[in-house]
Amino acid sequence: MKKGLFLKLAGLGILVMITSVWGQPANRTTIDEKVAALVSRMTLEEKVGQMTQISLEVVSRGFPVVASPLQLDDARLRNAIVVHHIGSILNVGTRAHTVQKWRQIITKIQDVATQDTRLGIPIIYGIDAIHGANYTTGATLFPQAIGMAATWNPELVKRDGQITAYEVRASGIPWNFNPVLGVGRQPLWPRLFETFGEDPYLVSVMGAAYIKGLEGEQNTISDSDKVASCMKHYLGYSFPLSGKDRTPAWIPERMLREYFLPPFRAAVRAGSHTLMVNSSEINGIPVHSSHFLLTDVLRGELGFKGFVVSDWQDIENLYRREKVASTQKEAVKMAVMAGVDMSMVPLDFSFYNDLLELVRNGEVPKSRVDEAVTRILKVKYELGLFEHPYPDPTFGERFACKEFQQTNLQAAQESITLLKNIDGVLPLKKGARVLITGPTADKMHVLNSGWTITWQGNEESLYPKDKWTILQAIRHKIGTDRVTFVPGVSFEKEMDIPAAVEAARRADVAIVCLGEDAYCESEGNIMDLTLSEPQLKLAEAIEKTGTPVVLVLTEGRPRIINRITDGAKGILMAYLPGMEGGRAIADILFGDVNPSGKLPVTYPRYTNDFTLYDHKHSENNDEEHQYHPQFPFGFGLSYTKFSYTNLTVEPKTVKIGDPVRVSVTVRNAGRRAGKEVVQLYLSDLVASVTPSEKRLKRFKKIALAPGESKRVSFTLNKSDFVFFGRDNMPTVEPGVFKVSVSGRSKEFTLKK
Ligand code: BGC
Repeated sequence: MKKGLFLKLAGLGILVMITSVWGQPANRTTIDEKVAALVSRMTLEEKVGQMTQISLEVVSRGFPVVASPLQLDDARLRNAIVVHHIGSILNVGTRAHTVQKWRQIITKIQDVATQDTRLGIPIIYGIDAIHGANYTTGATLFPQAIGMAATWNPELVKRDGQITAYEVRASGIPWNFNPVLGVGRQPLWPRLFETFGEDPYLVSVMGAAYIKGLEGEQNTISDSDKVASCMKHYLGYSFPLSGKDRTPAWIPERMLREYFLPPFRAAVRAGSHTLMVNSSEINGIPVHSSHFLLTDVLRGELGFKGFVVSDWQDIENLYRREKVASTQKEAVKMAVMAGVDMSMVPLDFSFYNDLLELVRNGEVPKSRVDEAVTRILKVKYELGLFEHPYPDPTFGERFACKEFQQTNLQAAQESITLLKNIDGVLPLKKGARVLITGPTADKMHVLNSGWTITWQGNEESLYPKDKWTILQAIRHKIGTDRVTFVPGVSFEKEMDIPAAVEAARRADVAIVCLGEDAYCESEGNIMDLTLSEPQLKLAEAIEKTGTPVVLVLTEGRPRIINRITDGAKGILMAYLPGMEGGRAIADILFGDVNPSGKLPVTYPRYTNDFTLYDHKHSENNDEEHQYHPQFPFGFGLSYTKFSYTNLTVEPKTVKIGDPVRVSVTVRNAGRRAGKEVVQLYLSDLVASVTPSEKRLKRFKKIALAPGESKRVSFTLNKSDFVFFGRDNMPTVEPGVFKVSVSGRSKEFTLKK
């Protein structure tokens, strides 16, 4: 602890904790008591300041045009922290900084906060570490969440959280704006890749695992290698009707509860400390102004105890964009009274000024401010910021170490999903002569996309030189002389398709690398889910040569490829596989790794058919209403074969509330070791609210040696039978149910 801070806290008469080990207070004063004592000494200005979060740019030289390398501006910093008492800063300002640079930035900020202010309250710094510490140079950058979901391996997702927390804390930052818990049910949405896919249960399991990774099993966020998580974006952000980012969702309350609330419920249970609000609106109500969602449901029903932060400029947006407030001040009142505790303002002090006035005029009660500040300070205490506001100079030795990179490689390998493999085209022989073509073949940024080094993730020149593109990884694996590279097209333009065709004729196999250029948030809006025309033309032209074609897709959402699927012998979906993605793709193409990823979303066949796997019966009851995706949710091939036998359900008749045990034997019937995801779906055959054909209820990833069998068992509990009834209340109805596992099914009866 810095001397100045100690004196300040001691001077306040607060019982100062001296900690020997992080997170283990040496005296009995509870955090609640400390927070209450501190709040009782704060002025209104100091309280409102704690509720204010600004962006790093605002305290940097040159703002609003901040040059790289970023430099803090002393006067601006003092204006923010000493004059406006702000409690939080976020963002990267320019682009990724080194660990060293981050530590300098955080140290300087905490110097001002802890030494130059009356109460010495440390700043809580927040960052978007979405797929690893993506704003720290050289960090371990994992597959984006959609790929992590495709691993169907919650342990790996937890490891991602642990490693991310380690590298974020090594950068001196204690708070991560992740995980994204929106259920990805709108494939056009440019933030689909930040989600864990289309199923509420899968998102809930993965979200909770990630939170435990970031915060620790017991949510001991003061530990030196843990950070506070921020579940986002509450609620319904992931389902914009138009598919464009930050546009309205129309979700009736029953469906909100059925599909979109469960991951947040699971995340609150997992102990997440903070929550960020959906930028947009549901049913005409901007969520930043919804007391019902932010207070009644979140606090009253879910029991959330942490603090709520707005999204970027979204309180102001109630006035400027959403037009539900006639002034900015009215917007502030609306949001604060709805339940927003901290405003990500983030580019000025308007929120601070407006809220001060509102409280002075009696329009916002002091008690509401006290409540918000209490929640914020509690998290600061729990993070150990009062005892350790500064980056620990001795911590961080393992930053981007071999072990972390190995885990990252494993995550990428387990995410990649084999969607088609005709005539055993895959795995490829290492002696084959290979053409590599397409716009994603030789770029690192297409493997990572948004939230990588920069916000848009599209500055190829800033990517590490020691990581491999798909092309580089294949060259390393089979030797440069076996590989011909002809890009053929860019994303939007034909370059030289005839040259690629010519090269394909001379090759044993053509690896056609297609997908999306990098994007983030609304910059990724599209008008059409179809893959870009030049890419389709390239693939079609090469397919005509008769040389076997393997498509490798690196994309954050399932772009329509129906024109080129039939002509391809092999298709590999790699999502956005992160820094080790190139290596992982090469490992799978050439058989060093057996693929085990499964789609966490439905891969649509047509641009106007986004029917999801858990559709209603009416969406699949005749030729005109057919569930006919390109590839279904949960699908993914292996280089070995798994057989399922002896599915049992016990008991055959069960009382509501009693457990149901489902078991199945899975055997590796092929000649290679492999991993399989055992997926259990439940169908409620008749219900008072139209039931889905099936819903995912459990899954387990297992490893099997050739010839090996395992008996896998699951237990279904009362909550697995719950749906939201006609009165929007949780309901369980007796009747006949069906469990299905890999095409086998068994019925049983639930009785009162
Ligand atoms: C995004 C959030 C992010 C925030 C801070 C917003 O534009 O919607 O997900 O956490 O910016 O960078």
